[in-house]
Amino acid sequence: MSPPRVIAIDGAAGSGKSTLARGLARATRLAYVNTGLMYRALTVAALERGVNPNDGDALAELMKTLRFSLTGAAPPELSIEGSPSVSSLTSPAVEATVSRISRHLRVRALMRDAQRTLGHAGAVMEGRDIASVVFPDAPVKIYLVADPEIRARRRAAERPGERIDEALRARDAIDASVNAFEPQPDAVIIDTTGLDVEATIAAALAVVRERLPGMAP
Ligand code: C5P
Repeated sequence: MSPPRVIAIDGAAGSGKSTLARGLARATRLAYVNTGLMYRALTVAALERGVNPNDGDALAELMKTLRFSLTGAAPPELSIEGSPSVSSLTSPAVEATVSRISRHLRVRALMRDAQRTLGHAGAVMEGRDIASVVFPDAPVKIYLVADPEIRARRRAAERPGERIDEALRARDAIDASVNAFEPQPDAVIIDTTGLDVEATIAAALAVVRERLPGMAP
């Protein structure tokens, strides 16, 4: 079987993943799947139903009730329970809890299966473990890095009025303690610290042209 037409965009919060992934989905017309939103949706459901973030088995059961699909837009995007993403997914409560939810291996295994289903026909997929776990045979693997100060500044611009750097630091620490989110040997690392959006997309498109010929303008 030929490898899926998946462009994996991995990296830490605020490294510029969403902006790049959206831009690449537009350029290639592949579906855009932000896997962070899936963990956030599970977090919202757990908070609403009072499920303990330490109870991996209960979270896995809850995960099985969530419905993820793709919209009919061009390019298609992740849809959660039949709707595109909602603002509650980025609330401070979710921000403070999501890393405690994502650390459970049973939850991660279910997420991986759901993400493979969403991406099998081709997708630009962003997350932390797309190249390492979800689509290890993705032909394009891009790993974004950026200075912590820049990452916090970008998040603050997206979420005005929140105490971003503390939340980001706490999330980084939990994320790092559970999974070694590291670039794969065949990933291309792009440092977005000094790059604007256009330059980041141009650098990534060069990789796509080389590794997925015919998919990028
Ligand atoms: O990408 P975003 O910052 O929205 O992700 C929110 C959280 O979801 C991360 O801090 C991490 O705990 C979890 N996550 C993950 N694996 C992914 C995507 C997100 O563990 N592929």
